[in-house]
Amino acid sequence: MGISRKEFIKKTALVSGGIILLPVINNMAGCSAGAEILVVTASHEGVIKFNISGMFKNSGEGKLLEVDNTGLRIMLIKKDANSFTALDPVCTHKGCELIKRKNFLECPCHGSEFDLAGKVLKGPAEIPLGDYRTEFDGKNTVTIFLK
Ligand code: FES
Repeated sequence: MGISRKEFIKKTALVSGGIILLPVINNMAGCSAGAEILVVTASHEGVIKFNISGMFKNSGEGKLLEVDNTGLRIMLIKKDANSFTALDPVCTHKGCELIKRKNFLECPCHGSEFDLAGKVLKGPAEIPLGDYRTEFDGKNTVTIFLK
């Protein structure tokens, strides 16, 4: 017994949806060179409470965050044992998303480089990266203030 026309269309639509969706997901990952993106939620006051439990071992490590429902991305970097830096990971030259390297951030578009505090190391970008104030409770929570 074959499947009905209605079932066939339903199944085909499901499969087609999957095929269409996959490249979108791959393209999204490609924007940040395959980096894992952690979705976070901001309060109405623009405050993010981020639990870093088990995430950062060494200074200089970074995590790419995306604020839910906004598309806003933040590169959270462990500065030292007691503090974190939250940078806007968008190149100040022409707006490409930066790639986190071990000790710097690199622009894949025209080669600008920024240190882990957001200062320009190499042009053509001339303006430092934007940043957000952070607080670390010394245990597991980093608070990021978007305003
Ligand atoms: S957009 Fe980053 S160097 Fe041009």
